[in-house]
Amino acid sequence: MPVRRLNLPPAAEADERRRPYFEVLSVSATDPAQYEEMRREIRRLRRVDDPFTYELVQAGSFEDAIVAVLVNPELQAIVIGDGFAFRSRRDWPELRDLLDRAMPFDAAAVDLRDYGLKLARVLKTLRPELDLYLLTERGAETLAGRPEAGCLRRIFYGVEELMELHLSILDGVGDRYETPYFDNLKRYSQKPVGTFHALPVARGKSVFRSHWIRDMGHFYGINLFLAESSATTGGLDSLLEPTGNIKRAQEMAARAFGARRAYFVTNGTSTSNKIVLQALLAPGDIVLIDRNCHKSHHYGMVLSGAQPLYLEAYPMTAYSMYGAVPLRSIKKALLDLKAEGKLDRARLVDLTNCTFDGHMYNPLRVMEECLAIKPDLVFLWDEAWFGFARFSPFHRLRTAMHAAAALKERLQSPAYREEYTAFRAQAGDLDPADPRLLDMRLLPDPDKARVRAYGTQSTHKSMSALRQGSMILVHDEDFADIEGAFEEAFFTHTSTSPNLQIIASLDVARRQMELEGYELVIRATDLALRLRREVNTHPLISRYFRILTPAEMVPAQYRESGIEDYEAGRGSRARLLDAWTRDEFALDPTRLTLVCGTAGYDGTAFKGLLAERYDIQINKTSRNSILVQTNINNTRSDVAHLVKVLGDIAREIDDRLRQGGEAARSGFATRVKALMEDVPELPNFSRFQGAFREDPKSATAEGHMREAFFMAYRMENCEHLPIDSKDMEQRLKKGPELVAADFVIPYPPGFPIMVPGQVITPDTIEFMRKLDVKEIHGYHAARGLRLLKTGALPGRRRKA
Ligand SMILES: Cc1ncc(COP(=O)(O)O)c(C=O)c1O
Repeated sequence: MPVRRLNLPPAAEADERRRPYFEVLSVSATDPAQYEEMRREIRRLRRVDDPFTYELVQAGSFEDAIVAVLVNPELQAIVIGDGFAFRSRRDWPELRDLLDRAMPFDAAAVDLRDYGLKLARVLKTLRPELDLYLLTERGAETLAGRPEAGCLRRIFYGVEELMELHLSILDGVGDRYETPYFDNLKRYSQKPVGTFHALPVARGKSVFRSHWIRDMGHFYGINLFLAESSATTGGLDSLLEPTGNIKRAQEMAARAFGARRAYFVTNGTSTSNKIVLQALLAPGDIVLIDRNCHKSHHYGMVLSGAQPLYLEAYPMTAYSMYGAVPLRSIKKALLDLKAEGKLDRARLVDLTNCTFDGHMYNPLRVMEECLAIKPDLVFLWDEAWFGFARFSPFHRLRTAMHAAAALKERLQSPAYREEYTAFRAQAGDLDPADPRLLDMRLLPDPDKARVRAYGTQSTHKSMSALRQGSMILVHDEDFADIEGAFEEAFFTHTSTSPNLQIIASLDVARRQMELEGYELVIRATDLALRLRREVNTHPLISRYFRILTPAEMVPAQYRESGIEDYEAGRGSRARLLDAWTRDEFALDPTRLTLVCGTAGYDGTAFKGLLAERYDIQINKTSRNSILVQTNINNTRSDVAHLVKVLGDIAREIDDRLRQGGEAARSGFATRVKALMEDVPELPNFSRFQGAFREDPKSATAEGHMREAFFMAYRMENCEHLPIDSKDMEQRLKKGPELVAADFVIPYPPGFPIMVPGQVITPDTIEFMRKLDVKEIHGYHAARGLRLLKTGALPGRRRKA
């Protein structure tokens, strides 16, 4: 927070300080000598009952305005005047190429009178949450009618209505500050209510009057109980059928996250995914899905009866993890479906963005090219980890909602139509046998393509929402067609007693991100970059630990820009922007894979060491790494603590090796080699057993997983086989084929190595044997692997 000099009497100053403070940027041709007078004039507009207080800061040029918006997180509104210069008088060496890149037009060719609207558009791209006002002496009415004026909150003619401008600025910030559900819940909690419904903790009397559980009341505080209710009356609204403040809170969330609609979900993104999948899919539909998707997606396939066509992400065998699914593989699957005459059944592409380990897709490119093959495909982007991304101009480029809006705009533009005509002349009807299509950038027909994107985000994972707080974001041009199904799916999975505090926290998380998300996300990113640099360049720490760079996480063929690492200094931001705009995959810097195998620790052991000895909690582990993540809660002290701990551990290893002599050093080298080099091959998805396929000879791999899943409900259909048994070896060699009865999901790495109905191959069993993790969901070592009995398998399937 900047220190403010308010020059007010002490009582008034104390009052001022209690109100949230922000800054307003004025961009004008005013002589800097007049700036102080302008600020005084604005201060004179303040009233005692203003809900917020602000100061004016000034910029005299187009470029200065952009710099201000990038570097000043206190800004909430911008007032754009007339006649300001284009170039800054300052050089801004650090930001020069970013500034040049931010201008999507040739400044010299633009009429000076259009600078205001052009600036508004650029600023809206950088910080969409800010309110923009135009203060012009030139034909305010005409400007107001221009399409670009859509990004302005209001246009004023000259300075004739300064008080109106002041009130508008407060009103604009108030619109973001307002949390309709939370505000109402607070009001409700203060009302004296007699409750005769089924929620004894509401109002807290059963807690605070108790001799035995009163400590719960003291621990959580009275407000938790006063704000509990099972009623949907009294203005509390209903999550299942919102018509009041939940509806408004959801509309505001849609605005904040750049979606057309937003839905609050109180049982995590696990539930959000199931809702979307059930809403979109029917039995027999084909879904192109990353096998590494969270388990909720696989269960969604079972529930809906849709047939998954599993896609493989590129493997990162050295670290026992996967990257993301190359666009080439998605296109190949779609073209194969087209060749087989099944494209009409392909309904959805289902991907995780960003992945657990930070691989970010280029959603615009994926959607664009897939729509060229099938113009009505729907996309589900699981952005469980990525909700915060909307609030950084860099990360935002990789979000589903931004991509959907940008794609829509692109498809509507006359320039795109020309591009498409040229493409069409070259590519023709997209013959699936044409090998050029996989490497060519495919363009969809603007008259046919529909933009239909869904994003799910665990608000609780990256913003200030309570655990399980999640949102479904929708940009679907054809939502009206599935609205009924969506409602049914929402009813299917939503508790009729949703937690009010979770709903309120979603509302508040949205408020925070709209008002300070930019600052928080930029800080979390900056902390991650500091941590990366410190670990990888520290002479002692880097001897034993390393944080993987973009070059190590994303193979060169998916990094057209050639970017290798996050650099600092002149030009680095522009290079990053360039990479994130065009590369197929990019790495979210806030997700840091710290290699610990080189220090002789496997991921699980190192996670335990950090937790037990240093009270440091981390996210996930792999065979030889841990995943560290920075978020909006972290501080530089947290980073310093982690660096110190890594330094201490590195020093201990160093001492141990020095003092232990040759024996210690060779033992250490053997351990490191085992962890870093003797790594198990990652098993690909094999195939569904023929009984679960319509045509086992088909070139496309979709299968009827639901049937296999429910077959396994009957024990008489199943058998168990220990993975180390002779019988297992025999069956693998001589058959009959082993068919999985369950999802088998080792944690880590957390992806299903078997799904119901899948044929089990030797490499999968080998992987299981080498796994040194304790937790394998769906596998009970004492009983062995559960299989579907060969004799119980159904005959060849009929067509869906
Ligand atoms: C990619 C992905 N999607 C969905 C989920 C489930 O989210 P939630 O924990 O909010 O139910 C997770 C959980 O880790 C996840 O990693």
